[in-house]
Amino acid sequence: MAIFLLQSCAISPTKMLYSIFEPSDTLVNCDIYLSDYEYLEKINKREYINYEFKAGDTIAEIGAGNLFFSLANMCFVDSLTFYVQDLSLVCLSETESQKGKEHFTKLRGLGPLKGCIHIVQGDTNRSNLPYNTFDKVILRLVYHEFKNPEQNLQDIWQILKPDGILYVGENVQKKKNKTIKCGIERTEPNLIREIENVGFKLQKISSVSNSKHFKIYKFTKNDHD
Ligand SMILES: C[S@@+](CC[C@H](N)C(=O)[O-])C[C@H]1O[C@@H](n2cnc3c(N)ncnc32)[C@H](O)[C@@H]1O
Repeated sequence: MAIFLLQSCAISPTKMLYSIFEPSDTLVNCDIYLSDYEYLEKINKREYINYEFKAGDTIAEIGAGNLFFSLANMCFVDSLTFYVQDLSLVCLSETESQKGKEHFTKLRGLGPLKGCIHIVQGDTNRSNLPYNTFDKVILRLVYHEFKNPEQNLQDIWQILKPDGILYVGENVQKKKNKTIKCGIERTEPNLIREIENVGFKLQKISSVSNSKHFKIYKFTKNDHD
C-alpha cells in the first residue's frame, strides 16, 4: 500500500480518508464536504460538546488547517464568531468559507447557519489575533507542532478575555520514554505542567470516546471556572 509522507509522518491512504473525523496528528485535509449529517451529530456528541460553545461566543481556532471544525460547530450552536487561524491558508479562503456555509446549511436543513468566520494568517510564535477578544481559544492537534510553546501560550493569554478559556485537544503518551508515535510528544503531566507554567489553571480533562490518546484539556486564566 502506498504511504504518503506528511511533515515526517507516514500516513496510509485509508487513514487520509478518515482522518478528518478522527483526531489525527499532522494531516491537513482541505475536504470539508461531509455528506452524512447523522455522522456529524455523532462527532458533536463525542467531541465537540466538550468545547462548551454557546450562542454569542467569540472563538479563536489556532492551527485550524481547514474550515471543518468551525462550520460543523456552527451547525449546532447559533451566533458563533470564529477566527479561523493557521500558518498556512492553503485550505482557508473567503470563497471556501462561503461555499462551506452553503454546503453545511443544505446538509443541516434548518435554514442558513447563523454565525461568522474570519480568516487570519498566523506566524510561528504569534497568532496575529486581536488582544483581549476571545471567550474561547481552541488548540486542536496543534500544540505538539508549536516550536516555542511558551511564546504561543503567552500570546494566547493576551488574546483571551480575562475570563476566557483555553481548550487544548491533544494526543498524550501514557508512559514516558515509550516509542513516540507521530504527533504524541508529551505525557499528560508534562503537557499540563507546560501550560500551567505560563499561568493557566487546569479546570477539567475530558476523554473522547473511541480515542486512546486524544483528550481535551480545559484551562482558565483564573482559579475559578
Ligand atoms: C495536525 S494539523 C491540525 C489541524 C486541525 N486543527 C485539526 O484538528 O484537524 C496542525 C495544524 O497546525 C498548524 N500550525 C502549526 N504550527 C502553528 C503555529 N505556530 N500557529 C498556527 N498554526 C500552526 C499547521 O499548519 C496545521 O494546519
